[in-house]
Amino acid sequence: SDPRWEARADLVVVGTGVAGLTAALTAVELGLRVLVVTKAGPGDGNTRHAQGGVAVVLPAAHEPGDTVQRHAQDTHAAGAGLCAEDVVEQIVTQGPDAVERLRREGARFDTGTDGTLARTREGGHSAFRILRAGGDATGAEVERALLAAVRDRSVAVLTGHIAVDVLRTPGGEVAGLALLDESAVPGLVGAPAVLLATGGLGQLYQATSNAEGATGDGLALALRAGASLADIEFVQFHPTVLFTGPDALGRRPLVTEAVRGEGGVLVDLRGERVMAGVHPLADLAPRDVVSAAVTRRMAETGTDHVLLDATHLGPEAFARRFPTVYAMCVAAGVNPGHEPIPVAPAAHFACGGVLASIDGRTEVRGLYAAGEVARTGLHGANRLASNSLLEGLVVGERAARAAAADLRDRAPVSVDAAVWQRRLTAVPIADRTVLQRAMSRHAGIGRTATGLAEAADTIGPGRPRPVDSAQAVEDAALTLVAHALLGAAAERRETRGCHVRTDFPALDDLAWCRSTTVRLDAATG
Ligand code: SIN
Repeated sequence: SDPRWEARADLVVVGTGVAGLTAALTAVELGLRVLVVTKAGPGDGNTRHAQGGVAVVLPAAHEPGDTVQRHAQDTHAAGAGLCAEDVVEQIVTQGPDAVERLRREGARFDTGTDGTLARTREGGHSAFRILRAGGDATGAEVERALLAAVRDRSVAVLTGHIAVDVLRTPGGEVAGLALLDESAVPGLVGAPAVLLATGGLGQLYQATSNAEGATGDGLALALRAGASLADIEFVQFHPTVLFTGPDALGRRPLVTEAVRGEGGVLVDLRGERVMAGVHPLADLAPRDVVSAAVTRRMAETGTDHVLLDATHLGPEAFARRFPTVYAMCVAAGVNPGHEPIPVAPAAHFACGGVLASIDGRTEVRGLYAAGEVARTGLHGANRLASNSLLEGLVVGERAARAAAADLRDRAPVSVDAAVWQRRLTAVPIADRTVLQRAMSRHAGIGRTATGLAEAADTIGPGRPRPVDSAQAVEDAALTLVAHALLGAAAERRETRGCHVRTDFPALDDLAWCRSTTVRLDAATG
């Protein structure tokens, strides 16, 4: 079918989370015609669910002795040898400016009684350096401030529009984006630059902290456009997602790590500490270590959850410090000031993603990626807590600057509708429920070659179907990304960061201190 509507822009930003909105604001400031598209409503992504905060060492408000170098060291330690040194250094160094810009946009971070910015701690951090807003509603405040700025500056935002395909010129450069509007009517945006800021892939799994829309769309768009994914096997499981029963599927509410930062401890159902003796930082060990320990303890004790005990805070202090978590717990019938919170690990963050530079440039000319969808090298094998809002702020801005600079020497592009039509025909789609079950069973914490192969088999290649609805676009993305992830996870025959191979339980620096990459031909096997 012919495209039934068309638009033009210099830069199309896909996604309205921290990275996408930051990029859009920067690009508008640089004079680009920007169009932001999102398949849902503005602010429906993962950013607004972020609780803990933004990890940053501010000159004016840091713990005595804390430095940007220590932040970098903690990032490397969590990333288990796979972080890119220059990328880590630049992002943590540029964090303070990025946060100041966000504050100038109107974001309000919590302050202490003396008026200075309040700081908390999370897993893997050697200092109190995490800024927060509204107690445990940091992402919601970041999103609010950025959306208000976007509205103030009249940036065009198309809601309910899902990206189907990145269009390219015969020479392979980006020419625009094919989309379906809210009534699934196909259309085109002609643009020489497309920035993917689509977030993560938590919906590959049955239980996740992620928003409903976290279906790996940007990863699939990038693969189909000819870009590579890197480190995609490293899916971070958050250790403490509210457990509301074995049958509760889909998005589960997060219980921020900052609860452990403020003294909460994990105990099993017999009341025994989970993290004692496992790691020197105990309950504040890096997230992969805690999630793996919880998973082991659940297996040993034959249970499907553990308990997070923060009763030392008492109900009033808990409700004041963690209003979001408190409300979610109470809604689930738990009063965290009086009783421990039932929790279990759930899929949380894609540490890998579209192979991109710190400026968001991918291997495809005109295609950029920023935020969770991108793999810049900041996270390595396991992201340090609260480094993701930071990355979105820094790389979002840098990617917009890179796009503006690159556009200066790009010839005008025209969208070739014929190319687009060919690509909208039939794409393999697997059953989502079968896929989520297979991924949770075999590609969660604890993987084996046999299990990964079984998951690939169970999911199957998918049935070719036209991508003529938002659901079909998402299912096609889940299918492609699941196979990419299973392939990378099978290839990495060692245990590192959040990739736990029970058949290769050791870290193997000799063979595996490098990234895996996936391209489309390999991803589809
Ligand atoms: C949390 O608040 O525990 C999540 C923070 C993060 O994912 O970095």
